[in-house]
Amino acid sequence: MGEERDPKRPYDSKLKPLIPLAPLGNQGGIRLVPLSRSEAESVANVGRGKAQLSPSKGTLWETSGLTNLNPSLFDRAPSFPYNESAMKWVYIEDLGHHVDEDVEIRGWVHNKRSSGKVRFLILRDGTGVVQATLFSTAKDHPLFRQFDALTQESSVVIRGLVREERRAPGGYELSIKELETLQIAQDYPITPKEHSTPFLMEHRHLWLRSRKQHAVLQVRAEVIRAIRDFFDGRGFRLMDTPILTPSACEGTTTLFETQYFDQKAYLSQSGQLYNEATAAAFGKVYCFGPTFRAERSKTRRHLIEFWMVEPEVAFAKLEDAIELGTDLILFIVERVLARRRADLEDLERNLKPLEAIRKPFPRLTYDEIVPDLQKRGSAMSYGDDFGAPEETLIAEISPNPVCITHFPAKIKAFYMQPDETRPDLVLGVDFMAPEGYGEIIGGGQRIHDLALLERRLQEHNLPREAYEWYLDLRRFGACPHSGFGMGIERTVAWMCGLKHIRETIPFPRLLYRIYP
Ligand code: 4AD
Repeated sequence: MGEERDPKRPYDSKLKPLIPLAPLGNQGGIRLVPLSRSEAESVANVGRGKAQLSPSKGTLWETSGLTNLNPSLFDRAPSFPYNESAMKWVYIEDLGHHVDEDVEIRGWVHNKRSSGKVRFLILRDGTGVVQATLFSTAKDHPLFRQFDALTQESSVVIRGLVREERRAPGGYELSIKELETLQIAQDYPITPKEHSTPFLMEHRHLWLRSRKQHAVLQVRAEVIRAIRDFFDGRGFRLMDTPILTPSACEGTTTLFETQYFDQKAYLSQSGQLYNEATAAAFGKVYCFGPTFRAERSKTRRHLIEFWMVEPEVAFAKLEDAIELGTDLILFIVERVLARRRADLEDLERNLKPLEAIRKPFPRLTYDEIVPDLQKRGSAMSYGDDFGAPEETLIAEISPNPVCITHFPAKIKAFYMQPDETRPDLVLGVDFMAPEGYGEIIGGGQRIHDLALLERRLQEHNLPREAYEWYLDLRRFGACPHSGFGMGIERTVAWMCGLKHIRETIPFPRLLYRIYP
């Protein structure tokens, strides 16, 4: 499918691909006067045959003084800034509040088409898409020349009357009274034809404007808003943890090293260690920020820079973390379904699996799941981490996310609390998304005992000096505590039904890509 085109979208399906035209230099503002249907018909009838009326009923607009227009009006350079107008600047998503009012919309040409004496402009302004119509009986009217010079992604200001039109995308239509061209875009590279992924990634700064990308990032913004509402609503305090850190959280092999004046520093892999300190100050906290992993993985689930939300709760045990993660996932799913259904539909996401999510989520220990996966064809050995084939097999267990707990200590981070009865296992939990979207949450209970933590630092060859402050948390008021990290991009990929997470963040940082 061409990125810009979807045959199911009426406003797209009828449109011919845009052929970029050279600007005619006639981009001055033009004022139109409204005509009633009968007036339009009578104007059209004067020596020109019958007017073709807009397919949607309502007022048609005719240019004023067809023969008397001053030609210099059309020879003006594109107007920066555009003219001041008494008409109110509104966003397309708010058009419903302005029916039968004259308004101004500032945006970009998504597409356009002509049908007889009617011109249709499909305009986007970032909040939505609206069809604007222009009617004239004069074939070579200068305004039509201005319209015809518009190319995909040209920037314009249009003013006109908002009308309710159920058949139009978004349910409203604008009858154009004034049109100002700000800039004619020359040869916009992302045309309605199909483009390769590398080409689109190279043009990510423009690709963001495409309908599908727009929908994905709308869902992302909603997921983030839901997460904040969830934690803020439950009395968690937001704590911004540092990005420049002196030590590792998630293993030294994936650290991004940088110079911090005359010492080494690392980009944060997780805010967790600092959150353990803030949790002891505020009880329940969360941090939400970018995290960095210098992982040489080129999978569809890995980004080099990704965003993670990390709650941490003093006195909470593994069970509490699992309950919190479950409620968070349910909250996000419900919110996205309630508020971004249209975007999910644009993405052709099957909504049924999302609507079917219920708690409790099934729970299995690592010891239970590994033989089951092996029986079902997995090549993994006991002690391995799960790969993509295992994630797919785990998703077959249930239509709900599946919680895997009690991992071998040697495959998990140094801070994980061992199980009392099986010290070779740790009280960690991974939430695996349904439909094979992989691990979206990782976390568990942290070591609270000073001596054990000191031993673990040694076993992992971590420099004790850098962790003295972290050890202090075990010296002064040690308590069991738990938390987790949820990857935003993987969660968005699951919500949107995307195979690859590169489209879930505006500018993905991938193994071999840091441009744009
Ligand atoms: O399991 P991870 O590595 O856990 C931690 O970093 C803990 N310190 C979090 C905590 O307990 N506060 O990562 C947590 C989540 C994963 O489940 C996944 O969703 C996401 O972060 N994630 C990635 N997302 C995109 N690209 C990557 N390279 C990711 N690595 C982890």
